[in-house]
Amino acid sequence: MLEIKIEKNKNPKPIPGPEDPLVFGTIFTDHMYVMDYTEGKGWHDPRIIPYQPLVLEPSAMVFHYGQEMFEGLKAYKTEDGRILLFRPDKNIERANNSNHRLMIPKIDPDDFLNGIKTLVKVDQDWIPTKPGTSLYIRPFVIATDPFLGVRPSSTYKFIIILSPVGAYYPEGLNPVKIWIEDEYVRAVRGGIGEAKTGGNYVASLAAQVKAHEEGYSQVLWLDGVERKYIEEVGAMNIFFKINGTVVTPMLNGSILPGVTRDTCIALCKEWGLPVEERRISVDELVEAAKNGTLEEVWGSGTAAVISPVGHLRYENDVFEIKDGTIGAVSQKLYDTVTGIQLGKLEDTHHWTVEVR
Ligand code: COI
Repeated sequence: MLEIKIEKNKNPKPIPGPEDPLVFGTIFTDHMYVMDYTEGKGWHDPRIIPYQPLVLEPSAMVFHYGQEMFEGLKAYKTEDGRILLFRPDKNIERANNSNHRLMIPKIDPDDFLNGIKTLVKVDQDWIPTKPGTSLYIRPFVIATDPFLGVRPSSTYKFIIILSPVGAYYPEGLNPVKIWIEDEYVRAVRGGIGEAKTGGNYVASLAAQVKAHEEGYSQVLWLDGVERKYIEEVGAMNIFFKINGTVVTPMLNGSILPGVTRDTCIALCKEWGLPVEERRISVDELVEAAKNGTLEEVWGSGTAAVISPVGHLRYENDVFEIKDGTIGAVSQKLYDTVTGIQLGKLEDTHHWTVEVR
């Protein structure tokens, strides 16, 4: 494993206190991790330096063709002061799958995890402890060749930044309103939908702005070919409880393979709930909403955790789910996932990794 050099920040910022609002993704800690890639040399020079602006050539390829990968995971502080990560191996595996699709060189999983752990340890005083808060970890890679031709870059930077966060949605655990999008699409099979990369998120903006203007938090995407099958929401995967069965779209190449999605499936199965990963059409969903068998809807994601959905809008119909209140499975998933993440519940799956 590569040795990480550490340069401490001589001008640390004030750390937010329990009374300060932690709006998602707005505050950054005192340090960042950086590692460079050079063709022929591989990944080299991992270092932790004071959080600072990057200096890049305006011709850097990431600015023009979007060759970049990002990830999201969280660190938590337990009541007895231990620091836990939740399933970081899954994020690292997904990062390298995204890298593969985006022609970015693979990062050694041990160096990746060591980078996260070392940075979190350096900035551990920034991990908030108020209920519903955590330290969001954002690893990302950018292509840095100064070149305007279209090809994979031969140099990259791998960077990790940290941000103390509260709930992703201003609604917190209150059910959100979701807009089923029938004009724009996010991804198509064979494209980059299952990679975690900026291009998928910029593709979502026009529909998201439209949905916001109508009073909806997020967009639920339909497949890009038939515009018929449910895919995922802007910042999370989606689950439905229909007539006692938990249903979620199967991973088909255009959906992000969410870590929290995987966690929800494992927990629901363990609780004896039937779980189906399959294609689900918007017509089936509308039918279930109309005939009263749509019992619960929730989203899952690292940033969003478990986010109950109270309203779905499709074309000119608006469906209220559980009278806009949180359902029992959504609540149990939220309590269990956050309970394990915070070390309050026994981690029988060995999902947490301690930072020492
Ligand atoms: C996450 O849940 O960590 C994500 O990366 C979603 C992002 C759009 C906030």
